[in-house]
Amino acid sequence: MQACDSNWITTRGPQVDAFEREVCAKVGAGRGVALASGTAALHLSLLVMEVKPGDEVLCSDLTSPAAANAIAYCGASPVFIDSSPTTWNMDPGLLEEELESCSKEGRMPKAAIVVDLYGQCADYDNIMEACNRYEIPLIEDAAEALGATYKGSFAGRLGAMGAFSFGGNKIVTTSGGGMLISDNEEYIAKARFLSTGARDPFLHYEHPSIGYNYRLSNLLAAVGRAQLERLDEKIIRKRKINEFYRKALGGFPGVEFMPHAPYGRSNCWLTVILINCEEFGAEREMEKKGERLL
Ligand SMILES: Cc1ncc(COP(=O)(O)O)c(C=O)c1O
Repeated sequence: MQACDSNWITTRGPQVDAFEREVCAKVGAGRGVALASGTAALHLSLLVMEVKPGDEVLCSDLTSPAAANAIAYCGASPVFIDSSPTTWNMDPGLLEEELESCSKEGRMPKAAIVVDLYGQCADYDNIMEACNRYEIPLIEDAAEALGATYKGSFAGRLGAMGAFSFGGNKIVTTSGGGMLISDNEEYIAKARFLSTGARDPFLHYEHPSIGYNYRLSNLLAAVGRAQLERLDEKIIRKRKINEFYRKALGGFPGVEFMPHAPYGRSNCWLTVILINCEEFGAEREMEKKGERLL
């Protein structure tokens, strides 16, 4: 109601500022820019890293298409790194192998986008070691992982920049929205500039580069603030739902849950099972084919 009463309904205003401050305070980040989507956050992170047509960017393969799309928006190519069965996230060993062969061939990727799948952080110590060795900037796709932790650090804080989504199905939603966070003020200032049409701060309109209309509205930021207050409660509930399914389905042959990695605490945003069709005795498409599932 404050957002409506104040008449600030556009893509700036006190609710947007407060939402940025509150998300940063929650996860311990230096700066954040509230955006129209998580995809916009990933796209801007690549523009900040000056990813250009013809570049390559490493990314996780088991994830939403958002990272690969953002890479394609820059005219660059995604190079997919497969997942580890122990975390379902990017396998640090495969990342290391790829970086080693890139280095031998003299074609280094411009950045790596690593997802925290279904609310569980990737194995960052090993991933960061490989990225640091080859000086590859790491962008954390924490779209699904708000409130999750890795060795005491909050998701979104583990790379040079972190992207959140506040899409309709996320743990905190603004109906549609996102945020890019970083401790590097210059990165966030550049993303903010690009997200508001790349307008120089003059009284007249001057746009020195190609900009985007990527900001979150003040009305939606107010929804996000109300949601954020309940994040801890929501994580407790999501973790209980995960427990419920583990108990209910864990005994079936051929049913495997995403393992809880020992290095952190997942927000259990989504509970997903992997089915070995032969052991389980049914496959995903059976219902479509008119066969009974169980
Ligand atoms: C892992 C991941 N990355 C990025 C995104 C993109 O976020 P958005 O839908 O807000 O653009 C999503 C959400 O769909 C996601 O699940």
